[in-house]
Amino acid sequence: MKKILIVTSNANKVREFKEMLEPLGYEVVSLRDLHDDEDVPENGQTFAENAAIKAEHGAKKYHVPAVADDSGLCIDAFGGEPGIHSARYLGHDTPYTYKNQVILERLKGETNRGAEFHCAIAFACPGKPTEVFEGVMRGSIAEESRGENGFGYDPIFYIPEYGKNSAECTPDEKNAVSHRGKAVRMFLEYFKKNHYAEEQ
Ligand code: IMP
Repeated sequence: MKKILIVTSNANKVREFKEMLEPLGYEVVSLRDLHDDEDVPENGQTFAENAAIKAEHGAKKYHVPAVADDSGLCIDAFGGEPGIHSARYLGHDTPYTYKNQVILERLKGETNRGAEFHCAIAFACPGKPTEVFEGVMRGSIAEESRGENGFGYDPIFYIPEYGKNSAECTPDEKNAVSHRGKAVRMFLEYFKKNHYAEEQ
């Protein structure tokens, strides 16, 4: 069976990629499966660069095709911040209830509330150029935190298509319009058309 490496230790991301790629006949392994806790430096300037750095690092180290992603929230009134620093914003281990409260406070009275989530998925195959797929979900920062679903900044992100905050959406509703859903669908379409076909 052909192996594909998911360059993350995040159990949720690994599960999602397994669900997508195992039905195509791939053995999905993660850094955790390989007992690899090396911290790959994310020193790119964009989501795409960071995703590519991680995927290429994994592909080079283990000589297998590798996938990695990078995502975050860009707030217009903050000049696009926290952006690629979303996970580290106000401290890596700071609870999101606090981070979200700080953002709402900083935007109090602000009419420019536009924001977007970005997700880049990179696929690195030894000896081939790296492919990157990017999805964006445009919305705004809500006036108040609402909802219990999702994670991170979902409670304060308003999705105009649904007229509610991201954390109030079901996983299926969110996937249908989300940055990650879009990037994953682009990656899968490419993967099925190209890589999967090559293995037959
Ligand atoms: P990374 O993709 O693991 O680097 O994490 C990016 C960070 O962006 C997460 O820790 C969250 O803070 C934020 N983020 C990315 N996607 C989402 C989302 O779908 N909902 C809420 N927060 C998100």
